[in-house]
Amino acid sequence: MNILEGKHIILGVCGSIAAYKVAELARNLTLEGAIVDVILTEAAERFVGTATFQALTGRSVLTDMWKLPEDGVVGHVSLGGEADAIVIAPATANTLARLSAGICDDLLTTTVLVTTAPVLCAPAMNPNMYAAAVTQANIAALRQRGFTLLEPDEGRMAEPMIGKGRLPAVAVIEGELRALLGRRTGPLRGQHVVITAGGTHEAIDPVRYVGNRSSGVMGYALASVARDYGADVTLISGPTALQPPTAVRLIQVESALEMHDAVHTACANAAILIMNAAVADYRPAQVVEQKIKKSGDTGLTLQLIPNPDILGTLAQRQDVFKVGFAAETQDLLANATAKMARKGLQMIIANDAVASIGQPEIAVTVLDAQGAVVPLPRQPKQQMAVAVLDMIVQNYCGWYAGLSGVSYEA
Ligand code: CTP
Repeated sequence: MNILEGKHIILGVCGSIAAYKVAELARNLTLEGAIVDVILTEAAERFVGTATFQALTGRSVLTDMWKLPEDGVVGHVSLGGEADAIVIAPATANTLARLSAGICDDLLTTTVLVTTAPVLCAPAMNPNMYAAAVTQANIAALRQRGFTLLEPDEGRMAEPMIGKGRLPAVAVIEGELRALLGRRTGPLRGQHVVITAGGTHEAIDPVRYVGNRSSGVMGYALASVARDYGADVTLISGPTALQPPTAVRLIQVESALEMHDAVHTACANAAILIMNAAVADYRPAQVVEQKIKKSGDTGLTLQLIPNPDILGTLAQRQDVFKVGFAAETQDLLANATAKMARKGLQMIIANDAVASIGQPEIAVTVLDAQGAVVPLPRQPKQQMAVAVLDMIVQNYCGWYAGLSGVSYEA
């Protein structure tokens, strides 16, 4: 499922030089299937035109409380009542102040006052205006009333100064919006989902390690989809070069032992564990304190000792729905089935290691403890993460009902 599909989003744009950046947000949300109504404040119209947003959303852009589209579909009060979420980006100091005071003298502030939908504000303004005590007090007051306020980015402003006041990246605003929508209607709302990703690095000396090949892309994609489905996500990641998804709790680890500890801590109150990480099965018996120097042509022998099997150490946790991954080079289904039983898993996702590592697209077979074997065709990893999560949600509902006698409504 796609959490943005069919959702009615109001995008309020205020008067800031950053206003041009949210044209991309309007486009992305529309392409994802949302119905996007853009409201420009009077000041915003000095920075951007209605034609841009109209073309990108395919809908009339709203600017004036007294001049609404003639089709009568929206009224200045009904708009806020119908919305699934309101995003204000860029949110200026002036609009935040008016919202905080409950002033509703234009279409955007009136719409916000009427709505019961979640409101997400992405501030952008001069760094001194942002730091001003009154702005900070307004932000605190809005947060206390349940508004979500993002932190502006730090960096070079349009005027020649550096500071904290830049509009957060469009991907961050979109990620936060997805999380807000998911927490209201997503199938995993209220559930703590722990996901591991990437490969662990087992130190040989301060500059070298042994480890498995893994980009982390699949684990990060699963984390962003679980977030969209409303879960409270903890992503425990080995070293990767990836930008972490917005609105998930990221715990970075290096080694299998660190991952073991982080997984046990996070699973204290988890509903679901998805163990996607490529955990190194062995680590050097000793970590040498100084860089090992070459010594002639004699070669180097490393002694490796076993790491704990992290999933294995959680076999007794019958209260957590556990999903493993099996990357195999031979006997895929037989090996995956054996691993699922050995590690006490409810599901395992099996794939051909050689055809998957470092590839943008993968094919997998999903196996569950009841004996189902479902092949999912080759597709991009982000798309595959949606297909896999849908199957996890479906299995989790049945498992939860069996465990508690209470049906879990996704
Ligand atoms: N796993 C784990 N701890 C380990 C090794 C693996 O929790 N020390 C998890 C992986 O995250 C994955 C599942 O167990 O979800 C299967 O991992 P895999 O490497 O395929 O299997 P192994 O148990 O390591 O067995 P083998 O290497 O013999 O295939």
